[in-house]
Amino acid sequence: MCDDDTAIPADHEKDLAFGTKLIHSGNHPDEWTYKDVIPPISLSTIYNAESPGVIQNYEYTRCGNPIRSVLEKCLMAMDNAKYALVYSSGMSATMSMVSMLAPGDHILCSSDVYGGTYRLLSIIAKQAGILFDFIDFINTENIVQNIKPNTKLVWFESLSNPLMRVLDVKKVSDVVHRIRTDILVAVDNSFITPYFQKPLNLGVDVIMYSLSKYINGHSDALMGALVTNNKELYDKLYVYQYTCGNVPSSFDCYMVNRGLKTLHVRMEHHMKNAFVVAQFLRSHPKVLKVNYVGFPDHPQRDVINKQFTGYTGLLSFYINGGLKESVKLLESLKLFYITVSFGCYESLAALPTKMTHASLTDEQKYSIGIYENLVRLSIGLEYVQDLIDDLNQALEASGAKDKTNTTGSINVY
Ligand SMILES: Cc1ncc(COP(=O)(O)O)c(C=O)c1O
Repeated sequence: MCDDDTAIPADHEKDLAFGTKLIHSGNHPDEWTYKDVIPPISLSTIYNAESPGVIQNYEYTRCGNPIRSVLEKCLMAMDNAKYALVYSSGMSATMSMVSMLAPGDHILCSSDVYGGTYRLLSIIAKQAGILFDFIDFINTENIVQNIKPNTKLVWFESLSNPLMRVLDVKKVSDVVHRIRTDILVAVDNSFITPYFQKPLNLGVDVIMYSLSKYINGHSDALMGALVTNNKELYDKLYVYQYTCGNVPSSFDCYMVNRGLKTLHVRMEHHMKNAFVVAQFLRSHPKVLKVNYVGFPDHPQRDVINKQFTGYTGLLSFYINGGLKESVKLLESLKLFYITVSFGCYESLAALPTKMTHASLTDEQKYSIGIYENLVRLSIGLEYVQDLIDDLNQALEASGAKDKTNTTGSINVY
């Protein structure tokens, strides 16, 4: 449970650097009987009251428990925010935001959001009578024209997957709030993390994180979070959470709290590795195009310079081939695991058309640049030359042709 009092950081924590906050914020050994330096997992679902109706801190774990509070306090510190709530998954956090709306309310959503978010709106929210539009947010004039009198929530991702397009978080927030201040602007910041971007400072009302990605970083816990400075929203979300019970387990809170202690160190290394891999791929004869935010000629370079303090380990590329060559490439990789998700210490490779975006129609896929020759990588923390050697041998084995030997057109967005 994080009420107003617990949301205020201890005096000595206020001005600490990000990495120091990660390690110390929310972690107060004096809170525990044995002064544990590593906060203990509280597995009890019930807490003894001093007297009937006189609750000391916790009563029943659905409403809050000690290790969950530790994690929430650390998340608040990471974004310099007043409130944070953690959930049993990123989707559960997103669903909680959608549940703040009533039938007839409207959500304006960026067209290239995570496939699960797309599914949540187009199936579940629709069943609940909530209206929505998916539009391209790159041109913010498009947003202005699509806000309706019943629009209550604007949802987008600061970095799009898998094409690595960047949205101007400040401009989106300003444009929406200039039309109406009561529209909630929410950003899914799972890709960039609070280490590289602080969206509340750029004007959004609420940040959603899939903690299952970079913040935990170890692919061993599924969790999500909502982080905000808006007390009214926080209060509503908290009532919704303890009523509906979409809470994480204590064990997962412990795991994520443990994983995030090294976020700053991991992100620096992800960034360094991805930069080297992106450059290697860009110069490879079998690669047509690499999408990567760290390139100086990225189309949204001015926004990146203003709003990011670094780049993540994500990139995607088009090979000079079709489905057969892409599949062979992935199957030939020895160090990269073929799987969904991202943000962990091990490197991952995915074929969006068959994996993350398989539920879209071909027309929908092509409209957002997802062709059969697009491969996405989440670059991990391995020794980078090993990753390059692996990619090199897999590209050779894929059967993709060198660019200079190709006739006819192959899809690139
Ligand atoms: C950008 C993004 N947002 C949200 C989610 C959902 O998070 P979770 O898997 O923790 O429910 C994902 C999952 O892949 C994602 O990639």
